[in-house]
Amino acid sequence: MSADTPRENATTSTAADGRELIRFDKVTKRFGDHVVLDQLEFSVSAGKHVTLIGPSGSGKTTILRLLMTLLRPDEGVITVDGDHLTHEEKGGRLVPAGEKHTREVRKKIGMVFQQFNLFPNMKVLRNITEAPVHVLGMGKDEAEQQARELLEKVGLTEHIDKYPSQLSGGQQQRVAIARALAMSPKVLLLDEVTSALDPELVAGVLDVLRDIAHTTDITMLVVTHEMNFARDISDDVLMFNEGKVIESGPPEKIFNDPDHERTREFLGAIL
Ligand SMILES: Nc1ncnc2c1ncn2[C@@H]1O[C@H](COP(=O)(O)OP(=O)(O)O)[C@@H](O)[C@H]1O
Ligand SMILES: [Mg+2]
Repeated sequence: MSADTPRENATTSTAADGRELIRFDKVTKRFGDHVVLDQLEFSVSAGKHVTLIGPSGSGKTTILRLLMTLLRPDEGVITVDGDHLTHEEKGGRLVPAGEKHTREVRKKIGMVFQQFNLFPNMKVLRNITEAPVHVLGMGKDEAEQQARELLEKVGLTEHIDKYPSQLSGGQQQRVAIARALAMSPKVLLLDEVTSALDPELVAGVLDVLRDIAHTTDITMLVVTHEMNFARDISDDVLMFNEGKVIESGPPEKIFNDPDHERTREFLGAIL
């Protein structure tokens, strides 16, 4: 592959069972005339941790928002765990999916945002139990038991009865992580989850994420500028520029010896 040729298909290395959990097949997303994703192709295998890097404005958040069905693709097909996310088969044809189909597929995906997005009017416990009870139909006792276990995992047991506004940014973000895990997602999407935090709070959040990466089999698609963290947890790194994945590989390769000049330039600017 020449350094100038955008890689057509950045399929990541194969998981133990080789199953693809996420697949983007020629996905195009435009805002007006602005083509943000240009026939994007990539896939993530079950259990893998894949980090997306690339310049600001290159479309990383757009990829995650498409997976959350907060946006719809203009062209192409997104598949999650073998099911089309925004399409469904009817009479042998692929047609735009109805709400019900999309909601079912989306249940497999959890996301943590840069700005926490906790429910401000609910205490920590209810932030975590709300979706399991109302979306999954879990019993209240079971949901609360699970929430306690998750709060212990993220080190926030003593804050269970507080409102989000009574917590630091780092604590709020750890609640947001617990809330995402409470839905038992197969895929966890993390969008610059430490970018809004005071520097001294970043390490605590990254420690929690490292623990999840090393102790669960959740597939992770991560956007981060924390390159040491990316090195620690990633099976593959995808360098994304102008709507396409321009190169991909294990972190040692991408961070130490990238093929592409644009990758070198980008890493030079942020490391
Ligand atoms: N809702 C929107 N309407 C118009 N333009 C948007 C919208 N969301 C994102 N964009 C544009 O799409 C491009 C990619 O944005 P984004 O996915 O947020 O990039 P990144 O996360 O890599 O910084 C940017 O130029 C941004 O301004
Ligand atoms: Mg972004």
